[in-house]
Amino acid sequence: MFEQPTPTLHRDGDALLILDQTALPFHTRTLRLATLAEAVHAIRAMQVRGAPLIGATAAHGIALALLRESGDAALDRALQMLGATRPTAVNLHWALARMDKALRPLPPAARVNAAWAEAEAIRVDDAATCDAIGRHGLALIEAVAARRPGPVRLMTHCNAGWLATCGAGTALAPVYAAQAAGIAVEVFVSETRPRNQGLLTAWELAAAGVPHVLIADNAAGLLLMRGEVDMVITGADRIAANGDTANKVGTWLKALAAQAAGVPFYIAAPHSTLDFACPDGPSIPIEDRGAEEICMLRGIDAAGAIAELRQAPPGTRTANPAFDVTPATLITGIITERGVVEPAALAGRYPEAAR
Ligand code: MRU
Repeated sequence: MFEQPTPTLHRDGDALLILDQTALPFHTRTLRLATLAEAVHAIRAMQVRGAPLIGATAAHGIALALLRESGDAALDRALQMLGATRPTAVNLHWALARMDKALRPLPPAARVNAAWAEAEAIRVDDAATCDAIGRHGLALIEAVAARRPGPVRLMTHCNAGWLATCGAGTALAPVYAAQAAGIAVEVFVSETRPRNQGLLTAWELAAAGVPHVLIADNAAGLLLMRGEVDMVITGADRIAANGDTANKVGTWLKALAAQAAGVPFYIAAPHSTLDFACPDGPSIPIEDRGAEEICMLRGIDAAGAIAELRQAPPGTRTANPAFDVTPATLITGIITERGVVEPAALAGRYPEAAR
């Protein structure tokens, strides 16, 4: 089982400790969340991020809320507030529905302990799921390694590594599995403007000793066309019933370029990312995160302090959709904990959820 170098989240008595991802890759800082409001803020401000981790944090946020009041009204309020934090990652709603189902039938006095237990079960389940995704993705990497010498060259987008989950990650789980199996890999990591989650991926891979190359988002097409990439693997925030997949904005462009270049394009995702109630990509809600992220550059100054610089001229109009949708037709396969599945075969692999 993959062990996170620093837990992305764990319970500490009546509080939740999280690794603050707004301080990374510059500083490793732990934050203590003790209230529902703090959990809501952590998700919205992206102190925690990545679809599976958002879900697990929300589950723990329910436990924090019920510490103060555990009647139906308090439960409803917590579900509503956490559910309104970020719209695209369906793992959030999956986790909240699971908490509601476990807690609602219980008398209020029994709900706090049950909430901590269910949130912990979600955390443990996510870690095991990531490991299984890693094993299935490893087979794809092994197949390339068997065909020719040299490192297997992967490309990813955003961060779908251990930082985004309670375990090894989704898109990076096969990378870590390959490393553990002694297969040489090299990962092209796109910056992922405007939030630069690619820097989180570079930070993770550097710490793990995995060779990687940071690229500007717009360089991906050229590298794919030149034949410098064996496969693309990204994570997902919501997979609709027809296999259309929402992930960090820019994913679709990589899928288009991969198809044009004849490079396989994989999505790695757990069961909690599947949304069979959502028929197709156009039905997936896309988060808009506002002008500030586009107008600002974030970095570290000579004294080690995180600093922001304005880059856009004052008054510039912006659009900042945080996700896009890759149509199922561009996806070679979805690496799930139940194996690598063609988008059209998803419902068959998850019959209990597709019902
Ligand atoms: O806005 P973010 O950083 O939460 O977006 C993250 C992504 O798009 C990831 O690729 C996705 O959540 C999968 S994480 C295993």
